Amino acid sequence: MATLQADRTFWGEAQAKILKRVSSTIDQNLNGFPHIGDPKTGEWVTTPDGFWTGGFWIGELWLAASVTGEARYLEAAKRWLERLEPRVESKTVFRGFLFYYGAVIGALLHGDQKAAALAEDAAQSLGRQFDPIANLIPLGKEAEEAHSVGDGEANIDGLPAAPVMLWAAKRLRDYELRQRALKHAYRSAEFFLRDDGGVIQSASFDTATGEVNRRYTHKGYADDSIWTRAQAWAMLGFVLSARLEPKETLLFQLAEKVCDWWLANSPQDRVAYWDFNAPVTPETKRDTSGTAIAAAALLKLSQIHPDANKAATYRDTAEATARSLVERHLNSMGILADGCFDPKNGTAVSNELIWGDYFLFETVATINGKLHSPV
Ligand code: GLY
Repeated sequence: MATLQADRTFWGEAQAKILKRVSSTIDQNLNGFPHIGDPKTGEWVTTPDGFWTGGFWIGELWLAASVTGEARYLEAAKRWLERLEPRVESKTVFRGFLFYYGAVIGALLHGDQKAAALAEDAAQSLGRQFDPIANLIPLGKEAEEAHSVGDGEANIDGLPAAPVMLWAAKRLRDYELRQRALKHAYRSAEFFLRDDGGVIQSASFDTATGEVNRRYTHKGYADDSIWTRAQAWAMLGFVLSARLEPKETLLFQLAEKVCDWWLANSPQDRVAYWDFNAPVTPETKRDTSGTAIAAAALLKLSQIHPDANKAATYRDTAEATARSLVERHLNSMGILADGCFDPKNGTAVSNELIWGDYFLFETVATINGKLHSPV
């Protein structure tokens, strides 16, 4: 009983801190989407058009509106959503991030019609970006990546396009859109998954044949290393897709495989370094953002897993991971510090990252039972 109460207090306080940061970000009246934060001052680097990350800010606002019921969060979410509209046709697979978190979440939690319409439009546009020879959606020429973008490049970070398309296909009863989303997910597994369930970030392919020429990384330690966010995005993308398509057993098996790899390889203290193959020294950076994505994915997998023992393992790991993030990396301003964006370019290697904030918020709010619907 005492433990239950202590848990409730712990997660309630964590949520209150995170909300404080959402609120203080609103109060900054930013001109652009918050992207990278300074964990000491709380100052944001912003992006004018949302880059690939702006949807996570809107997602935080949808979550905040849901857990508090306060109109100002809902108003802010709707206001920022307008800013995402010009991105519906951007030629980047990362619209999966923008429109799942910026829009689908608003439709799921609040039944927001504008959000639903934008998500459907973006999903159909992603469907048109599908390459029927390679059987997946390439990065696209406007992809917000470090280098090597275009129609012959692909990333596992593109997998979250699939859930946006699957969600929209169901609403629109669009069989072809669903097929393209499923092919994108399954081909992504062939492009990026090792046999042991570890995930390589990127691949170049021959646009004439669709065959892979090389595997490499944009932001990881080495071309054959397991970059933490590659693993985490795979976990999230397969789990969300499996939840949307419960009859696709292969999707579920892929979700389990990449999540099991995380369970077997993440450090004992739960918070992953930025790349699983980077040599660990006292200076090696953690990536709290990748760890938060993984925690969110594990919690979702626990909710759909038919085996009660396995479900409990995924849930316990998700909760222990989120607890480590809260205890060691969530500062008094409600900032999730120690996210590692792009160490190869020396960009934001120990910072607040908007998507890390989002996934910790989502996980904490889910543990607290404060969301009206699964997200
Ligand atoms: N491209 C997505 C990421 O950097 O995590």
